[in-house]
Amino acid sequence: METLMLNAYDNEDIRRAGELLRQGGVVAIPTETVYGLAADATSGTAVERIFQAKGRPQDNPMIVHIASMEDLPPLVEQVSPAAEKLARLFWPGPLTMVFRKSGRVPEIVTAGLDTVAIRMPQHPSARAVIEAAQAPLAAPSANRSGKPSPTEARHVMADMKGLIEAVVDGGECEVGVESTVVDMTGPVARVLRPGAVTPEQIRQALGRVEVDDAVFRKVDDSQPVRSPGMKYRHYAPRAPLTLFVGAPDVTARAIEQEMQPHDAVLCFDEYHDFYDDEKGPVRTYGPSSDKQAQAHQLFAALRELDETSCQRILAQAPRPFGEGLAVSNRIQKAAGFETVRPAKAVVAGVTGTSGSGKSSVGACLRDMGWQVIDADLVYHQLLMLDRNLTATVLNQFPQVAGADGNVDRKALGEIVFEDRSAMRRLNAITHPAVKREILRRIRVLTSQGCRRIGLDVPLLYESGLDHVCDFVVGVVAPEPAREERIVRRDGISPEQARARLAAQPDREFYEALCDILIENDGDRQALRQSLEQEMAQAMKETE
Ligand code: TXA
Ligand code: MG
Repeated sequence: METLMLNAYDNEDIRRAGELLRQGGVVAIPTETVYGLAADATSGTAVERIFQAKGRPQDNPMIVHIASMEDLPPLVEQVSPAAEKLARLFWPGPLTMVFRKSGRVPEIVTAGLDTVAIRMPQHPSARAVIEAAQAPLAAPSANRSGKPSPTEARHVMADMKGLIEAVVDGGECEVGVESTVVDMTGPVARVLRPGAVTPEQIRQALGRVEVDDAVFRKVDDSQPVRSPGMKYRHYAPRAPLTLFVGAPDVTARAIEQEMQPHDAVLCFDEYHDFYDDEKGPVRTYGPSSDKQAQAHQLFAALRELDETSCQRILAQAPRPFGEGLAVSNRIQKAAGFETVRPAKAVVAGVTGTSGSGKSSVGACLRDMGWQVIDADLVYHQLLMLDRNLTATVLNQFPQVAGADGNVDRKALGEIVFEDRSAMRRLNAITHPAVKREILRRIRVLTSQGCRRIGLDVPLLYESGLDHVCDFVVGVVAPEPAREERIVRRDGISPEQARARLAAQPDREFYEALCDILIENDGDRQALRQSLEQEMAQAMKETE
């Protein structure tokens, strides 16, 4: 069979795709997550052909794709208020919901289950093809069984050429990992497969959410599985993949030590030049703190490494938080949940703007048995004890020399808080020194047997110390509360406090970069409670 390459942005090609589907054909379509291998979901014979093309075991059910809310009721027994709410919030988009199925869905689509998974994709071409086909479309990811999901049309062609009628080329998929699958048939929504819609977002919408255990660990054959897809060794590259879990700097070094000739490395952008690419291929998959970039690139990277002759793949694990949970889950599956954890201690960064209450979080962590290194304190101590540092600072800022030969910190603070370029010059001197000292203290604490270390660092990302953290807690608080705290703490005017806050990153900065966000509205007990919850969850995901 000749497999046509169609253009996702050409109306005539969309019409052609619809026609092929109406005739019972199989057509690969772009979606915002990954490419899907589509057939008319209401036709058992059409769906049968998907199984043949994929080489997929017949007991793995498929997702049915719809283009409008009216398509939903005929396919399911009922739509609960919770499901309606999630649909309103996240459809069209990368969310799949599992419902009790109606008699209209053929057995073969659901592999005999009495439930059906349904998703309304956002990709305009996916929706146009569904409309042109005039039917809901059953579509698993368009890879041959056991291969990473395709995120580009050429990936689909590589797997499906000659096996299906057509591939609709819509370029690279924006998200890059498959949709979040959430089971809505029980009393509490349950995430069966993590994706771009996070458990946190679902909890915010519904009040409660559960995450299936199979997301975190291997399910053995004896256990009942809620989502049959969980038990297959999906996304598996040809060469065995070993995942190095922990802070990026730590895993990068461990991989460098482990790397032998013919090994491939899959690492974050920052670490590309760390490795000897004479030994084997080195492929990056986004910056260490950019989960969206990692999701977007992971499968293409795995496919690329698959085409090399490498014997092993050594990979840096992504941070399993927020959208990173989906990336972590996919790469964990590719590794068969085989992980190496080089560091003995877990290092948690704590950051946020002035007045957000980082030190309250630090104090809570101490109460919870963590050793906390306070970067401001380290800086103050260094300015008193490190003669080299003092000399360099005084050389740049001679006007802040105190009578005792030390740096007058208050005078220095007044200068740099008024003048951004002065602040930059000071940071260029102090950040490396503070960072060195913090790294030394981490080593000392670890060698003393400490297993949990918190780093309270206002400029964690700016100083690059996020790279030594297993995960980062961002502390955020409403602007008026922060202003009030700074005024009280530092004895400055509200105007000065506002100016200081204006020079710092905003809430979005922390939302985008941090793994865990803690709201601090001033209630110490509530803070302690949410911190305990989040840290327990985070430890479960990192250890
Ligand atoms: O993003 C996606 O979801 C992509 C695009 C094409 O939409 N599709 C996709 O399909 O990833 P597939 O077949 O590769 O994965 C479907 C997942 C499997 O893990 C399967 O077990 C689960 O959804 N699933 C399907 N029907 C189910 C059901 N009735 N109950 C529980 N899990 C179900
Ligand atoms: Mg799949």
